[in-house]
Amino acid sequence: MKSVTICNSTFYNGDCISGAAGQIPDNSLDLIITDPPYGINGDNLHRHYNRNEEFVVDGYVEIPRAEYAGFSRQWIRQAERVLRPGGSIYIVSGYTNLVDILNALRQTGLREINHIIWKYNFGVFTRRKYVSSHYHILFYEKPGGRRIFNLESRFGLGEKTGEGRSCNNADREDVWFINREYKPGRIKNKNELPLRLLTKMIQYSSNEGDMVGDFFLGGFSTARAAIGLNRRATGFELSGPVYDAMIREMETITPGYLLPTLRSPAINQTKNRGRTWTSEDLASLTRRYNTLRAQGATRQQVIAELGEELGRGRWGITKALKKCDPGSGKKARKGRSSGLSGQ
Ligand SMILES: C[S@@+](CC[C@H](N)C(=O)[O-])C[C@H]1O[C@@H](n2cnc3c(N)ncnc32)[C@H](O)[C@@H]1O
Repeated sequence: MKSVTICNSTFYNGDCISGAAGQIPDNSLDLIITDPPYGINGDNLHRHYNRNEEFVVDGYVEIPRAEYAGFSRQWIRQAERVLRPGGSIYIVSGYTNLVDILNALRQTGLREINHIIWKYNFGVFTRRKYVSSHYHILFYEKPGGRRIFNLESRFGLGEKTGEGRSCNNADREDVWFINREYKPGRIKNKNELPLRLLTKMIQYSSNEGDMVGDFFLGGFSTARAAIGLNRRATGFELSGPVYDAMIREMETITPGYLLPTLRSPAINQTKNRGRTWTSEDLASLTRRYNTLRAQGATRQQVIAELGEELGRGRWGITKALKKCDPGSGKKARKGRSSGLSGQ
């Protein structure tokens, strides 16, 4: 099978089922993100967001509807084999053949983590029914190892939206609003996934240096995002013309080129959350508390300040202050002396 290696990443021109069986060892991929053909003959969805068809590479290979269930079972079985224990897999699917993919997943040992809805900005034109504008993303894991989930890779736990909601929670809700991308003047595959969508999955579910697989490379967007984030990539594309066009593009990319575009989450605030307090920690907390109070800060201001300084949550600081001064509360209010000033 023809292959090219670029940036420690090998890409194969051929069928992913026989290709994976012959080329990819058991338990060797840390993460799989893949978008199989939809099995919809005459699918024209791409026309809505690739306004200039001239740049769409011809050669996209479809799977006949009648073969879709068996085809899904075969490639998903291979994906399970090559994923390492604890590895994650994200499968992007429309609703038409979703049932076949869900049935195929149920016949493996892969375990569901989330069923994500990806809502995009516009859908297929309709007059006599609702406008379809979502995909399903099936997020599963291979049991038997520790799964990577980089909780604060995008937003720190303490970061709040303008309305006071947790940014971290909002980013981890299972409905994702991510627009399709227009790529005017660039060669592309028929249905390319947006970079923002891929970046999100890669950030949460892998670390730099990890190996990310895509069984259906298409426009190589998973591979481009993975290498751009300093991961390695591998995968398959059956169509010769699509493969050749995209390999030429891949030869121009620089590993890590996307890293400077990522926001830096504010995670210092809680880096010591949950760590046991030693007696020295408590003594220095008391000293610092008294100093800040003596400088005129209110109790609430001091707790917020100490939370940031010590990388702890507010609740943890409040509990520790109670430990420093077990007589706080009712007794302290009655005038009992304590190690803390201004209770
Ligand atoms: C939905 S597209 C993938 C799009 C890709 N995720 C992107 O963002 O550009 C599916 C791709 O799978 C390819 N394909 C179809 N059957 C295949 C097979 N058996 N093995 C490998 N690739 C296949 C198609 O030619 C098509 O390019």
